[in-house]
Amino acid sequence: MRIDIVSCVPQMLAGPLEHSIVKRAQEKKIVEIFVHDLRDYADDKHRTVDDYPYGGAAGMVLKVEPVAKCIRALSAQRTYDHVVYTTPDGTLFNQALANRLSLAENILIFAGRYKGLDQRARDLFFTDEISIGDYVLSGGELPALVIADAVVRLVPGVLGDETSALSDSFQDGLLAPPVYTRPPVFEGLSVPEALLNGNHRQIDAWNDAQAYEKTRIRRPDLLIPPASNDTSL
Ligand code: ADE
Repeated sequence: MRIDIVSCVPQMLAGPLEHSIVKRAQEKKIVEIFVHDLRDYADDKHRTVDDYPYGGAAGMVLKVEPVAKCIRALSAQRTYDHVVYTTPDGTLFNQALANRLSLAENILIFAGRYKGLDQRARDLFFTDEISIGDYVLSGGELPALVIADAVVRLVPGVLGDETSALSDSFQDGLLAPPVYTRPPVFEGLSVPEALLNGNHRQIDAWNDAQAYEKTRIRRPDLLIPPASNDTSL
């Protein structure tokens, strides 16, 4: 898989991509991630990528021309399965969408900034508009990293233990059950007996019951079957 991330603050992206599982995925040559500076596609000496909005609203708007130039230049080199714009008014990101993106060969993620992106660029270039939650961040860089991380860990071979992505919260529609490690007793608090006796049927049953109970209490919305016209799955 190849992921290209376009940003006008590319410095925000470097650190998180150089650590942990995302770093290992790149070292194993399973995933390649490239960061591009939108300002490289501006055509004035100040490298301007934003301008005042028509209609006099507050804030600045990302201009269509540098975005067009950048996405066209990258798309001339490969075909993108998904061209993603990160925006708080996009489709809410979830595990089902991460699973879908993880099947792609090439993904381009454009990190939004300022008051937004000229609507013509949105109409012309993007296959997906994704929000990572109902709150407004200062830019799309953190959302781009969130999406890249959630997707990369699902690509086969990235996680050492092939089953561990499957046991993540949400992967089976439930929150993950609690986990424990040594010591068996800490300040009088014991690890549940069901996990200690080595009976895998009993351990699975305990985990299933805990996952269900945690989901019922914290996220009962996850237990409601999706409507048949729900396109987010
Ligand atoms: N840009 C600013 N806030 C965002 C959010 N919540 N999701 C995606 N992109 C954003």
